[in-house]
Amino acid sequence: MLDLLETHKHFVMQHLRPGCTAVDFTMGNGHDTLFLSRAVGKEGKVYAFDIQQAALDSTAALLQKAGAPNNYTLIKDSHHKVKDYVKEPIRVGMFNLGYLPGGDKSITTMHETTLPAIEAGVELLARDGCLLIAVYPGHEEGGVEGRLIEERLAKYNRSRILTAKFMLVNSPASPFFFLVEKG
Ligand SMILES: C[S@@+](CC[C@H](N)C(=O)[O-])C[C@H]1O[C@@H](n2cnc3c(N)ncnc32)[C@H](O)[C@@H]1O
Repeated sequence: MLDLLETHKHFVMQHLRPGCTAVDFTMGNGHDTLFLSRAVGKEGKVYAFDIQQAALDSTAALLQKAGAPNNYTLIKDSHHKVKDYVKEPIRVGMFNLGYLPGGDKSITTMHETTLPAIEAGVELLARDGCLLIAVYPGHEEGGVEGRLIEERLAKYNRSRILTAKFMLVNSPASPFFFLVEKG
């Protein structure tokens, strides 16, 4: 059966090109960072953010073990400060909201910083770039984040920015994702 969070990689792959710049806004254990690093290749660039040292350690170990190209920068800071670090247009930005799998569940993404991070990500998007935002509404802050992100994304002008939501209609508490594309 359909795995919605695997399906979203289909959209990402349509936008990624070898040599381009991508951002992993929520590094966690580094699976998305590794995916992006391989997809953009040694001529490309990946910036990955997390506020927890445990995430940076786990991601560095994963990338090294997997033999990822030397094209990534791991940044211990909040993703809403992305513009302090990323100065070029980005083709793809991935958000996988929530808490670090296997880590401290009290440290989770919060709408106060997630919304400015998404807005900064939209501003950094190259033409034909996209953001993917995976939301986990099964915990309280995840539900709030999902509603506020949807409200914000609904306000972008459709002639410049397309925003869409993908969810299971008969399982509304399951994870879902938003797609943002710049034309
Ligand atoms: C669901 S995990 C990400 C999973 C990850 N993409 C992977 O492939 O393993 C969410 C991560 O977001 C991080 N996070 C929470 N608030 C953040 C913030 N303000 N800026 C950057 N990362 C944040 C958490 O520490 C956690 O590691």
